[in-house]
Amino acid sequence: MRILIKNGTVINANGRQQADVLIDGDKIVALVARPGDDAGVSDKAGAALLALGADEVIDATGKWVIPGGIDEHTHMELPFGGTFAKDTFETGSRAAAFGGTTTIIDFAVQSKGKSLQEGLDTWMAKAEGHAVIDYAFHMIMSDVTDETLPEMDRIVDQGVSSFKLFTAYPGVFLSDDAAIFRAMQRSEKNGGLILMHAENGIAIDVVVAQNFAAGNTDPYYHGVSRYPVFEGEATNRVIRLAEAAGAPVFFVHMSAKDAVDVLMAARDRGTKAFAETCPQYLFLDLADLGNGFEGSKFVCSPPLRPASGGHQQALWTALIKGDLYGIGTDHCPFDFEGQKELGRGDFRKIPNGLPGVEERVDLMHDGGVVAGRITPARWVELISANPARMFGLYPRKGVVAAGADADVVVYDPNRKHVLSAKTHHMDVDYSCYEGREVQGGSDVVISRGRIIVKDGEFFGKAGDGEFLKRETAHWVRKN
Ligand code: URP
Ligand code: ZN
Ligand code: ZN
Repeated sequence: MRILIKNGTVINANGRQQADVLIDGDKIVALVARPGDDAGVSDKAGAALLALGADEVIDATGKWVIPGGIDEHTHMELPFGGTFAKDTFETGSRAAAFGGTTTIIDFAVQSKGKSLQEGLDTWMAKAEGHAVIDYAFHMIMSDVTDETLPEMDRIVDQGVSSFKLFTAYPGVFLSDDAAIFRAMQRSEKNGGLILMHAENGIAIDVVVAQNFAAGNTDPYYHGVSRYPVFEGEATNRVIRLAEAAGAPVFFVHMSAKDAVDVLMAARDRGTKAFAETCPQYLFLDLADLGNGFEGSKFVCSPPLRPASGGHQQALWTALIKGDLYGIGTDHCPFDFEGQKELGRGDFRKIPNGLPGVEERVDLMHDGGVVAGRITPARWVELISANPARMFGLYPRKGVVAAGADADVVVYDPNRKHVLSAKTHHMDVDYSCYEGREVQGGSDVVISRGRIIVKDGEFFGKAGDGEFLKRETAHWVRKN
């Protein structure tokens, strides 16, 4: 199948170009600059290919042609707090596709006492034959032991080249400093990358217990118990450990100014510290956790931060300056009814996580590009190119270029629509952004050369998504 996308403006992380894009099979085979575009290099071979014609021609006049979004942080079917994140690999990846995302990097979980391989095999089985778009995995390590440390090398060899550790969730996922340091040292040898959930979970649990004992049982107290400084402290400690190990480190779901400040200071002194943030920390705040038990819809960790305190401004500044590297969603949806409700009367029992995989690309376009904070190229860098670079998928993914996978989105930067649980495709009974109007939407979504979404209709198929074997984290190393 040959698809020609005509008359659009191609936007990559390195700029824009008036060019037609030819797809043949599952690859982009040519980008042919249109006359009058000085950014484009005239491509005779490409023009000859174009002359052969296409089975399907998409007119992208007035539209942007961008690389498919890469959500570097999702949790389909994650077990949490006695239940499971509601989206399966099928429903979640389908929703991602509607939102312009053509690759997800999910987290396989090693259970305490079990091998990493068992965890990876379990998550492979959840995804294989079900995902509608391509997928890859990070590996959550629940314990770092003499057995799991050497196993990390074999996991990297299988294309899972990043490992998430936690300074939060004592008794479940928390790793102590020795464990984190040892894993970092090992990653330096095997080319893996350590990802950190940095919040001081031990201190948090003290405040959680104090609030609960004082009768503060509402979801709001999930938010107020997890002080921003607890994220700042853990981030600083982990950065120092990474410096001692001589290893790069990547912080997931950064939310607090306290953490951004230490990240920027570390980067200023040359430390290879990187981080993502998520739309919820840019567009929502602690007040959303109020309103009685309705606030449970917004319970996630780290929590939404107070509107005062400069947290959102710090995140935007870091995004604009380049200190924040990418945007993941931490998509981890639980229905309000029957799942979030497990914590009615006890905020400690509310499953942690929010839906968002479908809304990321449009929220970042609306709140970033339309609001004048970032350029279209920087938007593409944050939602696609940088996740591909950081996580060993570039240039197969993350760029509209000859030779890359044909994961392409025809994006309408002017179309306005309203985010709502009534219309979204995520399998969850609420939206964190209910009623919010955003500008920008994905008209056509192409996954490895197959049109899977067109004008709001789905044409994909469960099982068409492939496992992506990722390269090591050479992007953040000298060799
Ligand atoms: O609340 C969250 N973030 N749930 C998902 C698990 C995690 O820590 O990323
Ligand atoms: Zn986390
Ligand atoms: Zn997460």
